[in-house]
Amino acid sequence: MITAHAAVDTDLGVLKTGKEADVHLLERGVPDTGEQVLLAARRYRTAEHRMFHRDAGYTEGRRVRHSRETRAMASRTAFGRQLLAGQWARAEFEALGTLWAAGAPVPYPVQLHGTELLLEFVGTPDGAAAPRLAQLRPEPDALRGLWEQLTEALRALARRGWAHGDLSAYNLLVDDGPLVLIDLPQVVDVVGNPQGPEFLGRDVLRITEWFTARGLPGSGSAEALLGDLRQEAGIGP
Ligand SMILES: Nc1ncnc2c1ncn2[C@@H]1O[C@H](COP(=O)(O)OP(=O)(O)OP(=O)(O)O)[C@@H](O)[C@H]1O
Ligand SMILES: [Mg+2]
Repeated sequence: MITAHAAVDTDLGVLKTGKEADVHLLERGVPDTGEQVLLAARRYRTAEHRMFHRDAGYTEGRRVRHSRETRAMASRTAFGRQLLAGQWARAEFEALGTLWAAGAPVPYPVQLHGTELLLEFVGTPDGAAAPRLAQLRPEPDALRGLWEQLTEALRALARRGWAHGDLSAYNLLVDDGPLVLIDLPQVVDVVGNPQGPEFLGRDVLRITEWFTARGLPGSGSAEALLGDLRQEAGIGP
């Protein structure tokens, strides 16, 4: 990772516009050295009509100290929306840092600046982003391998007491073999959030359905996986 003060970032364009954030491809280089690295810049939106659908439920128990800020967020003033977007960016930055350190397959979180999050770019050196799992039709062996990687990754989250909270084949990238979990601002505390077990169950059901529909053998996978994850998270079978 390039941390030199002389580093210059160049925006190479939009990778993907999403509901809540735009992801840009960025090149960070040190002039006259030839050193360069690609980054993904996830810029959270603050516009009214793109307000986060995830604000309810996920954020239960998230504390905000200043009442002026609480009021601004509740009434969705421009200032309040800026604060909310910043909260989501920070939540994702922190979750990625924790998971990266725990060895979970997530993009390395490089830097946080307000509502912009800089991440390790998952893709080829020439700037082609890794496909989402949803775009792929893996052969049986590859499918089995991806399932094993997925369950391992979910175990790592559960061990930390977390569920992804918005898990689907759209939030998994396949980097020419390795599976990478993305889109984690809403990571859910399975124990501390009263709706935690529900989010965990929904994640497991949705992603197991995808694998089952693509031919993953073994019905009952969802129940078995959910039992494992509940145990890892310490909320029983
Ligand atoms: N670190 C990354 N490296 C490469 N591509 C990425 C990275 N992060 C995100 N992307 C691309 O940007 C897309 C959107 O990212 P993400 O899912 O985090 O945002 P989103 O706002 O939820 O978008 P969507 O509504 O499309 O799910 C991803 O599906 C992926 O194609
Ligand atoms: Mg997404």
